[in-house]
Amino acid sequence: MAPIPTTDNKRVIMNKLILLAPFILLLSCSGGKNAKTDNKAEITGKYSITEMAFGMLEEKAITEYTITNPSGMQVSIINYGGTVTKLITPDKNKNMGDVILGFDSLGGYLQKNDPYFGSLVGRYANRIANAKFNVKGKTFPLAANDHGNSLHGGNKGYDKVVWSAAKLPGDSSLELTYLSKDGEEGYPGNLNVKVVYTLTGDNGIKIDYSATTDKTTPVNLTSHCYFNLSAGADSTILDHQLEIAADKYTPVNDVLIPTGEIATTKGTPMDFTTPKAIGRDILQVKGGFDHNWVLNKNGNSLEKVAGLYEPNSGRYMEVLTTEPGLQFYSGNFLDGTLTGTKNGQKYVQHGALCLEAQHYPDSPNEPSFPNTLLKPGETYRQTTEYRFSVK
Ligand code: GLA
Repeated sequence: MAPIPTTDNKRVIMNKLILLAPFILLLSCSGGKNAKTDNKAEITGKYSITEMAFGMLEEKAITEYTITNPSGMQVSIINYGGTVTKLITPDKNKNMGDVILGFDSLGGYLQKNDPYFGSLVGRYANRIANAKFNVKGKTFPLAANDHGNSLHGGNKGYDKVVWSAAKLPGDSSLELTYLSKDGEEGYPGNLNVKVVYTLTGDNGIKIDYSATTDKTTPVNLTSHCYFNLSAGADSTILDHQLEIAADKYTPVNDVLIPTGEIATTKGTPMDFTTPKAIGRDILQVKGGFDHNWVLNKNGNSLEKVAGLYEPNSGRYMEVLTTEPGLQFYSGNFLDGTLTGTKNGQKYVQHGALCLEAQHYPDSPNEPSFPNTLLKPGETYRQTTEYRFSVK
């Protein structure tokens, strides 16, 4: 226990404090030489990419690359799973906050129950029914890792592999490449995959995907960021307002496999054609939202397909994509039990949401859905952008 100060040594302490006061004041004002005392953006006026060691896996160095744009927005990406680990954007008072869920260290991302936080997903995002598909009369069995179906590329999808990373000239883009070998997770053909993350001048994170193959194979790549635009202030996204430009969606069975039907959203809880709080109708949807919206857009042009607004922070996120579908998943399987999370936060059910631009789930088994087969000689190309502003 600390000794109780007597009147005499109280005076000594006071004298010492008076002597030290200017230094204490100086330190608290400057916050040390380089420390920032607020969470306002550092306006750098230029792009930069910094690198930080993030651990080792399979004898390969895992690095976290942080891209900063001239107005101070930042995105961090690791070469494990091509995972976005941080996305730091301003709120309406110009305070910066991280709007995606994730872990504090590589160990968190290596946990068996990591729910694909921030990952790249492939070779086929979402589900393939009964874990198999046919190409030219031949059946290809896949890992049945989700109620007898195959989810997110199988046991070791692109979210769990180490990508090669290269900073591109201009300091605003990071290129990730991965060779997915013929037969990997049951898929035919050597698939050369390239993903370029670019942080744009208007606070967008743009993801350009491309791939080529030497055998016909289904390909469906996406990004699996979990957004909560309150940046940790609100534990759920139920008050976020969402708008999706889709008059139709693909209904699913009990294990989230599309029935093949294309149904109207009009007059149903699935209608997000005008902005609506996510919590408004969620209880009417068994299990919460976890469906593919059939986007109204035509063809494969890059168009705005969704908007997400968080009223307290004023943050607004637009989703633009070349894809025909958008999987809106309301974080239904989060249950507050994950450990190693950023700042020890509890990620409760509906603690974040995913807006995964992609082709429709189970397309390889649904001939009426847009084609997902890539043939030798063709190049798969898709672009999705998440653009941030305030209102
Ligand atoms: C996707 C799926 C969900 C769930 C998550 C990962 O969004 O649609 O059903 O599997 O990934 O937990």
